[in-house]
Amino acid sequence: MDQSLSPNDISHVVETDRAHVWHHLVQHAPWTGADAKVDPKVIIEGKGMRVWDARGTEHLDAVSGGVWTVNVGYGRTSIAKAVYDQLIKLNYFAGSAGSVPGALFAEKLVSKMPGMSRVYYTNSGSEANEKAFKMVRQIAEKRYGGKKHKILYRDRDYHGTTITCLSAGGQDERGAQYGPFTPGFVRVPHCLEYRAQEGWDPVKESYGEYSAGLIEEVILREGPDTVGALCLEPVTAGGGVITPPDGYWQRVQEICRKYDILLHIDEVVCGVGRTGAWFGYQQYGVEPDMVTMAKGVASGYAAIACLVSTEAVFEAFCDDTSDPMNYFRDISTFGGCTAGPAAALENMRIIEDEGLLDNTTAMGERMMGNLEELAEKHAVIGDVRGKGLFLGAELVASRQTREPVSEKQAQQVVAECGAQGVIVGVTNRSVPGFNNTLCFSPALIATADDIDQITGAVDIALGKVFG
Ligand SMILES: Cc1ncc(COP(=O)(O)O)c(C=O)c1O
Repeated sequence: MDQSLSPNDISHVVETDRAHVWHHLVQHAPWTGADAKVDPKVIIEGKGMRVWDARGTEHLDAVSGGVWTVNVGYGRTSIAKAVYDQLIKLNYFAGSAGSVPGALFAEKLVSKMPGMSRVYYTNSGSEANEKAFKMVRQIAEKRYGGKKHKILYRDRDYHGTTITCLSAGGQDERGAQYGPFTPGFVRVPHCLEYRAQEGWDPVKESYGEYSAGLIEEVILREGPDTVGALCLEPVTAGGGVITPPDGYWQRVQEICRKYDILLHIDEVVCGVGRTGAWFGYQQYGVEPDMVTMAKGVASGYAAIACLVSTEAVFEAFCDDTSDPMNYFRDISTFGGCTAGPAAALENMRIIEDEGLLDNTTAMGERMMGNLEELAEKHAVIGDVRGKGLFLGAELVASRQTREPVSEKQAQQVVAECGAQGVIVGVTNRSVPGFNNTLCFSPALIATADDIDQITGAVDIALGKVFG
């Protein structure tokens, strides 16, 4: 680890963090209460797959910066240099104008997304999703007298932290206490076969067809002329790493076409390589109308998110120049920062030149194999799921009843992995009673040794917690 900070400097940082920083998604009492015995977690440095904390302890990061973000790993000097060069040339101009990296990254991005053509820059996944929702509402207003304004979202999916994104959120523990919510958002059932919805007859149809059919039921109940869009994660992330059952996406696509409903895919987690393809939807042959992305777009080296649309969606906003309101009247101040697309261009070059999509597929298969072996050994693993380097293991108290283990037990597994120097994740403040899925999303540069070290730590941790 870099020695530029002395132990005194570091203890000052830890104390000042304890006193003044309000961390995301954590209860502070254990380290701020009167008899606090625990230090806040402060990460000082990262290189490749590893990070070092304030005590100098090394950790193997199996969750790419905690929330599936640092796809190309830590310490990429070429991205830092690309950002530096761009910032001294032009750091910012509002997105009403273009920029060199903005134009070049848009060209590169759509070259990876056949059928898509326009890139709207913004600065977080939540904000990109808000843009999509606004577009749906404006199209409804312009084309359908406001009627076709409802937006469908799925149980267990997450689309962000703002009040409207929470209105489209299928994870009730994220939304609880933050209502009232934005009207016009309607929930459809999830597609997790391991916890199949009642009423499914496996002899009659696959679970993919059945669970997609449940979406059609909601559309018919609401009235197809009131539904403007369906917003889905290609693989549900924080709601339990849910890969779609066979036949699901094909049926979803047919339903959207049948009722003239825009298909909005939220690639904030899956986008830019995580599943082994450029985008998760491409694994399933889907043709979306709008795609949103954030985390891995620049691997966290700069804040950037994008909404990418088809030309048809774009044209709906410029087809009548006699109407002064007929364009997307939206702005994102920091969507004009040039560091984002500069970092994103270099991030994409790295993925291409280092063959990281292929590595993701190969290492994802290795990790899936390792997890399946663990499932043979530990009865507490009820199900393993995933695509590429995006995997989950659902923990159950009984394989017969599929009763989930308690959230506390699942957290103990994470802590036991942490004690071995491996950072893994678990579904967290997500679906009530179902915060029981261990999550793994190592950087796309992971080696076979890294993968084996991660699953080796999980093996030991499960043994310790469940005997
Ligand atoms: C699928 C998905 N969509 C959207 C978001 C929101 O992104 P952000 O935190 O950048 O606003 C997240 C964040 O975890 C996410 O997992």
